Amino acid sequence: MSSTVELDLGPLHDYFEFEHADEDFRAAVVAGLSQPQKRLSSKYFYDERGSKLFDQITELPEYYPTRTETALLRAHAAEFAELIGPHASLVEFGSGSSTKVRILLDALDAPSAYVPIDISREHLIESAKGLADAYPDLMVVPVAADYTQPLELPDIPNEVVRIGFFPGSTIGNFTYSEAVDFLRTAATELGADNGLLIGVDLKKDTDILRAAYNDAAGVTAAFNLNILRHINRELGADFDLDGFTHDARWQDDKGRIEMHLVSEGKQTVTIDGQAFEFADGESIHTEDSHKYTVEGFHALAAEAGWRAFRHWTDPDELFSIHYLRVA
Ligand code: AVI
Repeated sequence: MSSTVELDLGPLHDYFEFEHADEDFRAAVVAGLSQPQKRLSSKYFYDERGSKLFDQITELPEYYPTRTETALLRAHAAEFAELIGPHASLVEFGSGSSTKVRILLDALDAPSAYVPIDISREHLIESAKGLADAYPDLMVVPVAADYTQPLELPDIPNEVVRIGFFPGSTIGNFTYSEAVDFLRTAATELGADNGLLIGVDLKKDTDILRAAYNDAAGVTAAFNLNILRHINRELGADFDLDGFTHDARWQDDKGRIEMHLVSEGKQTVTIDGQAFEFADGESIHTEDSHKYTVEGFHALAAEAGWRAFRHWTDPDELFSIHYLRVA
């Protein structure tokens, strides 16, 4: 862990950065497109345009998760604060714009610190500065890192309890074993007697799920197709964006929405002189979004060393928030 001095930290107390072995974007794309079921990792959605499109998704009428989770956070903020107690430090995994955490910070009794972890360094520092300005008594210590990799959290003076925050049901974008690994790593990093507040999207009527990933305005389609635009720009590929269509399917046996990009006709795409053939109707699998039952999620958490302490759902049982404690 290294503290960096050349940055203008403004109101921030400190800043940490972890160097992780950088996965080669080109190698990952080539390997994914070479499989019988072509695949691209959903992490490549999030270039600047992709992040903006995702922000638009969160405001769509069909995309219930963000507004439902936000309403749950607001409705139960006082209860979270009581469970967590005074002088807590909050560690957010994948903090993005640090929007939802403000609901918690407003409710907590004299929180000691906020530790946002995000891989996107510039965005992380800007968001952290905004938060430090808004909460002058709070110690804000950003950590630039890939939170799915093990890391050492900064020491926080006067911290009574350390609470992880992982909203948005991002856990749903992990495979089952990735989710167990992430939760296990988080338990180790947060340490014994500490807790995790996590948002988890629930299984429900499949029409609601399909609509959430096939919105009428076509924003999710643009978000999905943006992965090809990103690859064209960064890797000099020649994907024809009009040659693929967005498809989001509910896979009942796997309990997940799968997003695909389906080839319209037979075509060839080249990356660095390497050709990839597409048959008519052949797809690239770009994302999984797993949905859980409350019991299913508790079993997953238990496997990773967490004890389910309390959970909350909205009246329509669309979304859940769980407070877990390290077992
Ligand atoms: C970030 N993640 C939780 C979103 C989800 O719902 O799985 C990503 C997303 N994909 C399409 N729409 C939203």
